Amino acid sequence: MSETDTDLEARLAEQDSFEPPQSFIEQANVSDPDIYDAFENDWPHCWEDAADLLEWSSDYEQVLDDSNPPFYEWFTGGELNASANCLDRHLEERGDEAAIEWVGEPVDEDNRTYTYNELHREVNEFAAALQELGVGEDDVVTLYMPMIPELPVAMLACARIGAPHSVVFAGFSADALATRMNAADSEYLVTCDGYYRRGDPLDHFDKATTGLDNVDHEVDTVVVERLPSEDAFANTWPEQTRGYDELVENHAGETVDPVDRDAEDMLFLMYTSGTTGQPKGVKHTTGGYLSWAAWTSHAVLDIKPEDTYFCSADIGWITGHSYIVYGPLTLGTTTMMYEGTPDHPDRNRLWEIIEEYEANQLYTAPTAIRAFMKWGAEYPDSHDLSSLRLLGTVGEPINPRAWKWYYKHIGNEECPVVDTWWQTETGGMMLTTLPGVCEMKPGSAGPPLPGVSADVVDMSGSPVSAGEAGYLVVNKPWPGMLRTLYNNDDRFINEYWREYSNTDSDESSDWVYFPEDGAKIDGDGYITVLGRVDDVLNVSGHRLGTMEIESAIVGVEGVAEAAVVGGEHDIKGEAVYAYVITEDGYNHGEDLREAIVEGVEDAIGPIARPEAVIFTRELPKTRSGKIMRRLLEDIANGDDLGDTSTLRNPEVVEDIQRKLGSD
Ligand code: PRX
Repeated sequence: MSETDTDLEARLAEQDSFEPPQSFIEQANVSDPDIYDAFENDWPHCWEDAADLLEWSSDYEQVLDDSNPPFYEWFTGGELNASANCLDRHLEERGDEAAIEWVGEPVDEDNRTYTYNELHREVNEFAAALQELGVGEDDVVTLYMPMIPELPVAMLACARIGAPHSVVFAGFSADALATRMNAADSEYLVTCDGYYRRGDPLDHFDKATTGLDNVDHEVDTVVVERLPSEDAFANTWPEQTRGYDELVENHAGETVDPVDRDAEDMLFLMYTSGTTGQPKGVKHTTGGYLSWAAWTSHAVLDIKPEDTYFCSADIGWITGHSYIVYGPLTLGTTTMMYEGTPDHPDRNRLWEIIEEYEANQLYTAPTAIRAFMKWGAEYPDSHDLSSLRLLGTVGEPINPRAWKWYYKHIGNEECPVVDTWWQTETGGMMLTTLPGVCEMKPGSAGPPLPGVSADVVDMSGSPVSAGEAGYLVVNKPWPGMLRTLYNNDDRFINEYWREYSNTDSDESSDWVYFPEDGAKIDGDGYITVLGRVDDVLNVSGHRLGTMEIESAIVGVEGVAEAAVVGGEHDIKGEAVYAYVITEDGYNHGEDLREAIVEGVEDAIGPIARPEAVIFTRELPKTRSGKIMRRLLEDIANGDDLGDTSTLRNPEVVEDIQRKLGSD
């Protein structure tokens, strides 16, 4: 008799470790458990394996130059081009195979396949167009586009001519675009007229031009016309704005030789949130980053050229950079891009796409899995998902229940699940199981990858014992690491190194990278990442600085002070809770609440929208005047507050609780 659903749930609920399926191990790119010892014994030369996945135009002389920590250099003396690695070298064998399968939002109307030949052609044409506009090597080009194929085309065109790109997530606001363009001194912008969200056209160009009003230098703009004429918001463009199609047509059939870039030359900048209001410009390089994206795609995502690989992230975040564009294309596979949301036109959408394209891997975020769980298993269960071979998650901790649901309902208990911990700064995966080697433990990302040296330590830097909570640290450099924060070496050292390093030392072994995450480690060396220990929130797997949100709120007329914390949320993981003190004479009414929400959306974007705005007379503060954020989090979560008598103003707590309860 076959197992009933209830029996099966009960069995899975009790099981806390899972072996990878034999059928997977037999075909896995990496299946030899000795790789851990081999990499440790051969460090840093083990990373030649990663560099070997790339094509170099000049060989590197040294794997790692660690003479000036923390300014490490990898594959020094080597030269390569990222666009040639993603395209040119695949043409002979895979020219007619799909490089990108793009699924546009309006169902069945607008899907496009780019073969490697076609992608190569368009990248060359657009690279020639960028040159015509005057873009030269090392000029930063900002790309402000949603999930349309022209985004990876533009990224690869920039890479081809040695111009670093800075992609700004399309959901970010006009102000966020301006901040990033000013910080990077970026004089070129590629954007689009609009795109679809849940069936409705959105005016993206309007947001881009509003942003440009606040850019403090001249900008040449290229606009991709994504919307068909019946949905277009405009059909003429302002001065200094060129149409993408026209530019590409002007350069039809042209080729541009890929520029040889030094391994340490910047490939791209990516701005991410930190503890101050100013986003950090994370700098990634050509040789180290690309080899890291390629090796982790090979070893962890098990990508093979004949696969159809689906990552549902947005290219506007690091996940899309490393695991939609650079990693998969370097390996010559077919990478999918989906423009829409998983619930439009209905909740079958993602499963229909996987079934239709016979996707072999699915890499998504726990926030999406929690939403799928809430919608119910009937949606995936009514589709043939048997093409899937591997499942992955990224961006935030995944609770064991969601992990098991994913394993059972999407993977049919036949696919290993890789829970991958990493950050914008690490360039690619750092902690996770190797799917063809390791046992999986739901809820725990897993051990550090071979060649990665990570640990969990206490405040003084000593390793904690198994099961105790502490701070995650990385003890040795790795090729995909950020090199610095753009134009800000001091902040780079202060943010990531000062905590656990001897910053006066020239010895690499005295330098320890601190990712600002809390973690636990078990007796087998599996690390469970608990979340940020700085003032950064993780909302639906997206990183948001509380300071950025607070400064947006205090910018609203009538607001005197604000404190933003994260509260638990079933689907989003964390949600934004804003505690606000108004100036005298301002009414705590609906109008002000709306103005605050709008203020946050204007400064950052809808993802930062507060779940709750709580007006209060005062914020709970310690006797020394520090805001008690932990207490505000406990209030948001309805947790027991413990002893509040040490506060300077304990009476305010009850007042806030009452307000939150009445909202
Ligand atoms: O707190 C960790 C969490 O996401 C942060 C990095 O965010 P970001 O730079 O936006 O990159 C997200 C995609 C790589 C980390 O500091 N995080 C990421 N992956 C995991 C995670 N937390 C727990 N488990 C993970 N697998």
